[in-house]
Amino acid sequence: MDVFEALTQRRSVRGFQQREVPRATLERIFSAAQLTPSWCNVQPWRVVVTSGAAKTALTDALVAAALAGKAGCDFQWPTEFPEPYGQHRKECGVALYTAMGVARGDHAGRHEAWLRNYRGFDAPHVAMVGLDKRMMPYAAIDLGCWLQSVLLMATEEGVSACAQAALATQADAARPFLKWDEHVGLFFGIALGYEDERAPVNAARTTRSPLADNVRFDD
Ligand SMILES: Cc1cc2nc3c(=O)[nH]c(=O)nc-3n(C[C@H](O)[C@H](O)[C@H](O)COP(=O)(O)O)c2cc1C
Repeated sequence: MDVFEALTQRRSVRGFQQREVPRATLERIFSAAQLTPSWCNVQPWRVVVTSGAAKTALTDALVAAALAGKAGCDFQWPTEFPEPYGQHRKECGVALYTAMGVARGDHAGRHEAWLRNYRGFDAPHVAMVGLDKRMMPYAAIDLGCWLQSVLLMATEEGVSACAQAALATQADAARPFLKWDEHVGLFFGIALGYEDERAPVNAARTTRSPLADNVRFDD
């Protein structure tokens, strides 16, 4: 698979088979992602890949915290989505909830769909990704590059994934499992596994803007 193919085939998957990804495959994905460039080569990503009992203990704690009404992020989420971002966000949400068959006014259905985030969409593996808060903001770019490396390598290996900022909204509940030093904050998680092609949620598709909306070529 070449890079273009990986870019075009990759998409977020939110319904997984229970079959685990072999450790050697996971190690191949995360070893390749070590090659990601970073500012001054600081390599700021800090990652815990959970599987089996470790994954269940982590996600159980996240679900419990969410059900208890707790929330808290180490890195500030945007509070507003001015245009055109608001429209993009809305379209993404509509695609997702339509695929799941959850109507706009179905508050219970939407709540349940949101809670699935904290279970890592029941993927067999959930990677939790942190960043040293003293290295912001440029190290966040490094982390984004690293994430894309993981996602493209996973695609090549036939492994599906979904990046999940939602997993960072219960940072206090996650902390005892991550055992990072005090400077490292939780930035996002990644659900990883083999796609369940029958899961309705996986029918959701997003689109992209025309190139000219984002990129200008000046001669
Ligand atoms: C940093 C980051 C965080 C994300 N967080 C979530 C999340 O919490 N829950 C979710 O369902 N999708 C999440 N996504 C997936 C995006 O919604 C998805 O990438 C976007 O809608 C484009 O769709 P595609 O990945 O299928 O191309 C996240 C993606 C990124 C890159």
